Amino acid sequence: MIIKPKVRGFVCVTAHPTGCAAHIQQQIDYIKAKGPIKGGPKNVLVIGASTGFGLASRITAAFGSGAATLGVFFERPSEEGRPATPGWYNTIAVTNAARAAGIYAQNLNGDAFSGEIKQQALAIIARDMGPIDLVVYSLASPRRTHPKTGVIHKSVLKPLGAPYTNQTVDTDKGIVSSITIEPATETEAADTISVMGGEDWEMWMQALSDAKLLAPGATSIAYSYIGPTHTWPIYKDGTIGRAKIDLERAARAIDAQLKSHGGGRAFISVNKALVSQASSAIPVVPLYISILYKVMKAKGTHEGCIEQMQRLFSTQLYNGNSPKFDSEGRVRVDDWEMRPEIQDAVSVIWPKVATENLVELTDITGYRSEFLRMFGFGLPGIDYETEVEPHVPMA
Ligand code: NAI
Repeated sequence: MIIKPKVRGFVCVTAHPTGCAAHIQQQIDYIKAKGPIKGGPKNVLVIGASTGFGLASRITAAFGSGAATLGVFFERPSEEGRPATPGWYNTIAVTNAARAAGIYAQNLNGDAFSGEIKQQALAIIARDMGPIDLVVYSLASPRRTHPKTGVIHKSVLKPLGAPYTNQTVDTDKGIVSSITIEPATETEAADTISVMGGEDWEMWMQALSDAKLLAPGATSIAYSYIGPTHTWPIYKDGTIGRAKIDLERAARAIDAQLKSHGGGRAFISVNKALVSQASSAIPVVPLYISILYKVMKAKGTHEGCIEQMQRLFSTQLYNGNSPKFDSEGRVRVDDWEMRPEIQDAVSVIWPKVATENLVELTDITGYRSEFLRMFGFGLPGIDYETEVEPHVPMA
């Protein structure tokens, strides 16, 4: 089958298996080139391991410090004549590379919010891995079926209190337009907290603790975003921001539990705005990312997921370093994004952007190529005109 990108709004409904594998190899090569992470994790559970920051965390742990990893994710497998979602191919590539290097890697494809997947994960950890010393919680999901009530909660990306109007970009068509988003209801806000807040992270940690599968001194991290005032109404001060406040609450609760268990720790890392399947769905944010990339690339400070996670692990978590917390107890690897000279430059460009000057004033071109790379398209060395087998079973 010849597989080409089919972009529908903010998703691409196809993915290229060998392209995804090449994308993974680039990330593994980056981590290896950076050298070993001393004192790094050895037994790692990554929840949300197949794309974005969770995938980059897994690659950093496996190839930076030789960690055994169990990856949990929710991807559509390939079928005869039908490509999988990219996280499926990404996971196969990571797993093959790890095993070829003699590093343990195992996977669980299913709903991480469910009790069943948690029990399956515990069984694999008990059988193959032993106590976990790092738990990365990196889910981004539009919905959650609550494991106790069976209620399906749907997350929304909306402002709170008042409508929000700003510029947004259709990244596929390249059209800049004004968008007004009506505020969320209290029910929608509560549902978003249920999906993207901290309750499920706490459930995972409790399940691991009850099963005595947390190593003394274990670390757990989850990821958040704050960003500039331009996006606050839709992000930091919106429904997702409220869920992130709950994630921070959970971090404090888990931290207290882990501290009493051999001096462990849990905290939030605030990461940089990056093209991901999750961020491309948020109104206004892709326009901000396109401007941000332009400014940060010009300054030579641009990073992708893998660079961010390598910096997090090597300068904050391990290598003899301790986390440097902000006033709220969060680690900040969004520090380069939030530098005043970067944000001032973004603010100068922001009001000037229009459809006509989008390519010139922003890095929409870089945004698009990074978006396509997430699905395995545009990788060097891949002949996209050649037939490729879409059906790749998980080992
Ligand atoms: P992503 O969409 O690339 O990855 C989400 C992961 O969650 C995938 O592995 C997916 O398979 C998994 N997943 C989703 N629903 C699941 C379910 N029910 N069961 C099991 N696995 C499931 O997202 P991204 O962008 O890497 O986000 C991860 C975290 O990082 C989120 O908390 C997000 O808010 C945060 N973050 C993202 C930023 C960005 O700009 N992309 C910036 C800062 C933080």
